[in-house]
Amino acid sequence: MSNYHIKNLEEYFQVHRKSVRNPELFWEEIAEEHFLWRKRWDKVLTWDFKKPEVKWFEGAKLNITENCIDRHLRIRGDKTAILFEPNDPKETAQHISYRQLYERVNQLANVLKEQGIKKGDRVCIYLPMIPELAISTLACARIGAIHSVVFAGFSAMALSTRVNDSDCKMVITSDGSYRGTKTIDLKGIVDDALKECPGVETVLVVKRIHSEIEMKNGRDKWLQPLLDKAATECEPEIMDAEDPLFILYTSGSTGMPKGMVHTTAGYMVYTAYTFKNVFQYRENDIFWCTADIGWITGHSYIVYGPLANGATSVMFEGVPNYPDWGRFWEIVAKHKVTQFYTAPTAIRALAKEKLDCVERHDLSSLKVLGSVGEPINEEAWHWYNDNIGKKKSPIVDTWWQTETGGIMISPIPYITPTKPTYATFPLPGIQLTLMDEHGEEITGNQVDGRLCIKFPWPSMARTIWGNHKRYKETYFSTYENQYFTGDGALRDEVGYYRITGRVDDVIIVSGHNLGTAPIEDSINEHPAVAESAIVGFPHDIKGNALYGYVILKETGESRVHDNLRKEINQIITEHIGPIAKLDKIQFTSGLPKTRSGKIMRRILRKIACNETDNLGDTSTLLNPEVVQEIMDNAL
Ligand code: WT7
Repeated sequence: MSNYHIKNLEEYFQVHRKSVRNPELFWEEIAEEHFLWRKRWDKVLTWDFKKPEVKWFEGAKLNITENCIDRHLRIRGDKTAILFEPNDPKETAQHISYRQLYERVNQLANVLKEQGIKKGDRVCIYLPMIPELAISTLACARIGAIHSVVFAGFSAMALSTRVNDSDCKMVITSDGSYRGTKTIDLKGIVDDALKECPGVETVLVVKRIHSEIEMKNGRDKWLQPLLDKAATECEPEIMDAEDPLFILYTSGSTGMPKGMVHTTAGYMVYTAYTFKNVFQYRENDIFWCTADIGWITGHSYIVYGPLANGATSVMFEGVPNYPDWGRFWEIVAKHKVTQFYTAPTAIRALAKEKLDCVERHDLSSLKVLGSVGEPINEEAWHWYNDNIGKKKSPIVDTWWQTETGGIMISPIPYITPTKPTYATFPLPGIQLTLMDEHGEEITGNQVDGRLCIKFPWPSMARTIWGNHKRYKETYFSTYENQYFTGDGALRDEVGYYRITGRVDDVIIVSGHNLGTAPIEDSINEHPAVAESAIVGFPHDIKGNALYGYVILKETGESRVHDNLRKEINQIITEHIGPIAKLDKIQFTSGLPKTRSGKIMRRILRKIACNETDNLGDTSTLLNPEVVQEIMDNAL
């Protein structure tokens, strides 16, 4: 029996039991057999959820790029590592072999060094989905610099906040990006952002759209001429197991985005292991994850997990509806994709289009379908299963988070029987609990509660950059000795888990994690706004959409209101990005509050969802009369 590759259900149970009985031994065997270490660990695991502190493979030395690239050269040098499919289907796809990837990563690593980047420095990467994005993350890892990828759909303000929070010395960007029929002036956004970022010394610019851009003297440099002069060999920096590999920001329910810190060895072992099992990856498969590398899904399942397994990973620059809604399926057919991993919001959008978009393409190469980012509703699940998988390719509904680094709950395809809307079983090494409001564990099956994890796993985020206190408060203070996920879940009669959604003030819109507080903070900056509250309501395609209740300093006429709605969404776009725009904005004279001044979101949520039959107890409110007004004017 191999720990690394699960082959049947009995083996899954055995391996899971073993991983609970002796987690150290379990992970040690996997680490030993499947990776390249410069020095072996002294201790597999040290942990204390009270501090909290978690260390995996302490004492070990390695470089993750040796594991993702160098060690494959001997047997897979000519194999495609990254298969780049451009936005425009007429532009040729690029097959970047492991050898070419090795050379390009090393060249960029040498450029970074020459530009003064050293081990431990932070480098912000703000790039579209072009090969340089993956190459930049690996080049940082090659020299021990910590990458912080910021999704290139974020606004200048969001970018500058992230650059400053982690004191990035460098930004890697491009002259612009293509998205369907649109081009986006990324460099202009970077220029705006960097007005507020005195710590950035260098901006490296990739040429993608060949637009006229301004280059700031002494700061901005075209990347290509530097690469042309750089050597294709670069000795990897030898890292400690617990050295940070990257920072990735995720929204919190309050305040600043949280810079989740992932470290080297544990992240590598876990993403590689989960990639292998959850996608049942076999040599010569063509794996495609449609996420952007700006999110954790792209970090773990476009770059590190696939490459650690020597896989071919597709990277797609474009959007699902360009040139038409058949694009995803055209790509699957063109490259004979075997595993396809996407988000429910994309599935719902695709399902709305004519079936001909699907049927005119040959999808027979597909073996496994994946879903991630939000609960997948029954209808979308069946559409995916019937029309894309033709009832033959199992769907893996994978639950995880930026914080968990890798997939935590998922069926193993062809092994775990799937059940629509259920993420099913925890993967080996993962010990879940459901907790009630009083802090008691809920045992048995057919129960629901708050989803927690009671034992460390290798790829858990170790801290929030610069704010360990917030890390402790957010994840380890709600329940004693448990990591709290922020999600609710139920466990059915056989022990399958179904994620029911966030139980905090985070709303998942189109698979993007949005905190209500940062959106409210930006709305409140509008001079006419006194106060605001955001809640989610169900949306056909996005899963959830945002509903804002806004109190104005002075009430106006409806014409004024329409303008204000536009201005409010404009402010949100500037502060965060278009993904956080509100679908509905209701102006109101007050918000329901408790006597301690806390907004009762539960009531606002029910009104937004049109579930006003049973508003629950409103008697404890400071201002119960406002509820009727809000109901009468609900949109
Ligand atoms: C939140 C984490 C992890 C990659 C993308 C999102 C929700 C994620 C599922 C799923 C139901 C899911 C949870 C989670 N979520 N996957 N399969 N079923 N909900 O990462 O931005 O950190 O968001 O996404 O609410 O807590 P993220």
